[in-house]
Amino acid sequence: MSSHRKNCIYTGLLVMLKVVTAQTFSWDHSLFTTSPPVYPSPATAGIGWEIAFAQAGAFVANLTLEEKVTLLTGVAQGPCIGNIAPIPRVGFDGLCLQDGPLSIRQATYASVFPAGLTAAASWDKGLIYNRGLYLGAEFKAKGAHVALGPVAGPLGRSGYAGRGWEGFSPDPYLTGVAMEQTISAMQRSGVQANAKHFIGNEQETQRNPTISQNNVTIEAVSSNIDDRTMHELYMWPFANAVRAGVASVMCSYNRLNSSYSCQNSKALSGLLKEELGFQGYVMSDWGAVHAGVASVEAGLDMNMPGPIGFFTTEPSFWGSNLTMAVGNGTLSEVRVDDMARRIMTPYFHLRQDKDYPPIDMESGNLNILGVYPYLDTFKFETANVDVRQTHAQLIRELAAAGTVLLKNIDNALPLKAPKTIGVFGNDIGDPTNGLYTLSMSTNLGGNYEYGTLAVGGGSGTGRLTYIVTPLDALKNRAARDGSLVQYLLNNTLISDPSIAFQSIAPSPPEVCLVFLKTWAAEGDDRTTLLADWNSTAVVESVASYCNNTVVITHTGGPNIMPWANHPNVTAIVAAHFPGQESGNSLVDILYGDVNPSGKLPYTIAHKEVDYAFADITNSTDLQETEDPNAWQSDFKEGLLIDYRHFDYYNRSVLYEFGFGLSYTNFSMSNLSIRNVYGNNIITARPLPAAIAPGGNPTLYDVLFRVRAEITNTGLVAGAAVPQLYLSLPQIAGETPTPVKVLRGFEKVSVQPAQSTTVSFDLMRRDISYWDTKQQEWIIAPGTIEAQAGFSSRDIRLVASFSPL
Ligand SMILES: *[C@@H]1O[C@H](CO)[C@@H](O)[C@H](O)[C@H]1NC(C)=O
Ligand SMILES: *[C@@H]1O[C@H](CO)[C@@H](O)[C@H](O)[C@H]1NC(C)=O
Ligand SMILES: *[C@@H]1O[C@H](CO)[C@@H](O)[C@H](O)[C@H]1NC(C)=O
Ligand SMILES: *[C@@H]1O[C@H](CO)[C@@H](O)[C@H](O)[C@H]1NC(C)=O
Ligand SMILES: *[C@@H]1O[C@H](CO)[C@@H](O)[C@H](O)[C@H]1NC(C)=O
Ligand SMILES: *[C@@H]1O[C@H](CO)[C@@H](O)[C@H](O)[C@H]1NC(C)=O
Ligand SMILES: *[C@@H]1O[C@H](CO)[C@@H](O)[C@H](O)[C@H]1NC(C)=O
Ligand SMILES: *[C@@H]1O[C@H](CO)[C@@H](O)[C@H](O)[C@H]1NC(C)=O
Ligand SMILES: *[C@@H]1O[C@H](CO)[C@@H](O)[C@H](O)[C@H]1NC(C)=O
Ligand SMILES: *[C@@H]1O[C@H](CO)[C@@H](O)[C@H](O)[C@H]1NC(C)=O
Ligand SMILES: *[C@@H]1O[C@H](CO)[C@@H](O)[C@H](O)[C@H]1NC(C)=O
Ligand SMILES: *[C@@H]1O[C@H](CO)[C@@H](O)[C@H](O)[C@H]1NC(C)=O
Repeated sequence: MSSHRKNCIYTGLLVMLKVVTAQTFSWDHSLFTTSPPVYPSPATAGIGWEIAFAQAGAFVANLTLEEKVTLLTGVAQGPCIGNIAPIPRVGFDGLCLQDGPLSIRQATYASVFPAGLTAAASWDKGLIYNRGLYLGAEFKAKGAHVALGPVAGPLGRSGYAGRGWEGFSPDPYLTGVAMEQTISAMQRSGVQANAKHFIGNEQETQRNPTISQNNVTIEAVSSNIDDRTMHELYMWPFANAVRAGVASVMCSYNRLNSSYSCQNSKALSGLLKEELGFQGYVMSDWGAVHAGVASVEAGLDMNMPGPIGFFTTEPSFWGSNLTMAVGNGTLSEVRVDDMARRIMTPYFHLRQDKDYPPIDMESGNLNILGVYPYLDTFKFETANVDVRQTHAQLIRELAAAGTVLLKNIDNALPLKAPKTIGVFGNDIGDPTNGLYTLSMSTNLGGNYEYGTLAVGGGSGTGRLTYIVTPLDALKNRAARDGSLVQYLLNNTLISDPSIAFQSIAPSPPEVCLVFLKTWAAEGDDRTTLLADWNSTAVVESVASYCNNTVVITHTGGPNIMPWANHPNVTAIVAAHFPGQESGNSLVDILYGDVNPSGKLPYTIAHKEVDYAFADITNSTDLQETEDPNAWQSDFKEGLLIDYRHFDYYNRSVLYEFGFGLSYTNFSMSNLSIRNVYGNNIITARPLPAAIAPGGNPTLYDVLFRVRAEITNTGLVAGAAVPQLYLSLPQIAGETPTPVKVLRGFEKVSVQPAQSTTVSFDLMRRDISYWDTKQQEWIIAPGTIEAQAGFSSRDIRLVASFSPL
């Protein structure tokens, strides 16, 4: 029976940390050595894109088999990082695919936006949306049809992941919201978004096969993920992406249950196309295809970059192989038609057939994968079009919003016109080895040769047109107060307090700003969570000399901070990867022109070993193995990554998930929970409904609305991020349920002594668990506790409700 009348049991104040008794659960590796077959790959019906689907159907019906195969297989003879060749006979200009998640990388006069991690740290849906809108506009203005982003995999199982910063947060709800905002916005700008990397791409180490000393092919690492964890953690944000209408999804390099992601029928056909109802196309990561017909039948729709050796014009597993396979009856042309329609439907839906800007000629000059001569059928335009418009304003604002104030003793910040400022570290100045960090080792070769770190490396980087360094911005801002700014950039010198500060007078400065950086790039995982370049010695040296030491980090993921409790370290600021306006964004925070409102989208623990529950799979033995199948990564921790681990095992952390200080204070009151499902009966199972993008649409029905009132109790205006966590019931015989999971957040600006009401809509999916036996999202019987607060460990109000 309907029970919404008894939903709200109590509300009250809670200060303690709720903890459950840790359960033991077993892991049977033998269950993860194969992937269940799901054939045939479901055909798209163009759900949500009906008009475009009809156009795509007519378009494809007019193509020869060879032309259809052209749509599916990339060519190296093109100006973009991925190219689908034009078909002039039917007036099709081809497709230009470009990196990456924070900038159109292979381009000049384009903006470098804050990284996904920084965007997540803002917890600001509106700013994340605008980032997507402007990114999309820049891709389109450069003639790119497909932008290779945003990223939800890696999700962030390990803080060491080299690409962690390209995506958003190890929390799937936060990442899901960021995916949805970004994709909706990018596609509103007219460019196709690409959600990547599907799925389990949680480490760089052995992401691709290698050749052993004895010439044995050692296969890529296998991410072995149980079904519940797949749904509730890794797939969750991809469901948001599909629901947002994402045009394409990129399958990943790794294997899943020992079968390559790009030919894993369970993942591509079963989970993505059938269950999530994905109507667009699956594209391979670059060189992630290891078979021809088998990958097609498993659900892959586009092979990138096409040729087997991807710097070459070598043949492809696809191309004329697919034409032959259809000709000899191995492959059904019905599947080829579906692939072609999947590719062309988003193209028509976004009206890319109408007056799309031609490709910027400079893209070809910058293309490290391109093979000359390019096909003369690609349409080019004048090189070096400036597409930046006024996007720098948003970049400055978002990076400030994603800057997290972690410590602030005795109001060390904001700065109050200090007479002397010391600025220290190899992260403050201009880069001396160029503005572009595509090369994965750029930052590894010197002390301060590569200056301030605004963005990581690899395909997810951006080509900076300029960088506002912290030093430049500080000098500009300090000049207004007539402050004396003195600086040292040599970390080796700074590490030695007996000689370091001889040039400084008066000494010590009123405030010492120490900048640290942490390199992270595609291709390599991090080997330490300490900041780079002798960071501990650098901070300790400055702090031994200066009793007002402020530490600022530029980083691509969690750091450990052994100096955090040093009495002379008065403030800590995590500035993440801010993009091109780095110094301006930071100075806005340091001087209080912007009140900090960023919150950690991950946990900062005390020690590296605290993260050992989900290490990168790696060892010397594995590096030297002759066993093709040796690289196995068992995701035994299940759902318990990041704060879910630390909460479940009741471990103390340095700075918890969701934490961040402000220059003002907020309180929270009047928590309420209301059933907003009307007189409808809430059943444990979702009502059956035709699958739409995102899966069963009733999973997104709003069942409850939680409200709370936020009051600014301090003296200055600021933005708060009230967060809603749910304690969902444990499920017998399943991998453990986390103590609490994030299920709502809002960023709200509040004036001093003013209040505002926030509301969090709880959808069916938000209060369900994935039942592996029923293969369905189920609302468990029992009570759910709603915990509202300002971080995962600053819970101010709780209320319970029983949905069934
Ligand atoms: C991986 O194996 C587990 C255990 O057998 C299974 O539940 C899950 O569906 C498999 N996933 C994939 C993608 O093969
Ligand atoms: C089919 O191709 C011809 C050119 O060969 C073109 O004139 C015609 O408009 C096309 N039809 C469709 C439906 O695209
Ligand atoms: C491995 O292959 C390379 C190139 O094909 C060859 O030169 C080398 O001798 C082989 N090594 C072994 C141990 O077979
Ligand atoms: C077909 O694929 C194989 C790899 O399996 C490759 O060696 C061959 O060159 C391809 N053929 C064509 C015509 O592209
Ligand atoms: C059909 O063609 C494919 C692709 O060239 C090839 O791999 C396969 O062996 C062929 N099958 C037959 C029965 O000829
Ligand atoms: C690191 O700091 C120590 C002092 O703790 C110093 O002896 C050493 O030279 C520094 N190393 C580098 C590479 O700067
Ligand atoms: C950095 O400082 C160290 C220690 O004083 C010194 O030996 C080294 O030459 C300096 N490096 C540069 C490039 O000046
Ligand atoms: C803190 O700074 C002062 C200098 O102002 C210094 O004398 C003191 O030793 C420092 N404290 C520590 C723990 O390094
Ligand atoms: C910090 O050092 C300054 C001198 O540099 C001194 O005036 C001030 O009292 C010190 N503050 C504390 C809390 O020790
Ligand atoms: C992987 O292990 C090898 C050999 O022990 C080591 O050299 C390498 O740094 C490790 N990689 C990571 C990311 O830890
Ligand atoms: C959690 O840990 C704290 C100390 O860190 C301890 O005081 C508390 O009793 C623990 N709670 C549970 C339920 O184990
Ligand atoms: C916030 O409140 C705490 C105590 O409730 C106080 O110590 C702190 O100074 C306040 N911070 C601000 C910025 O008002």
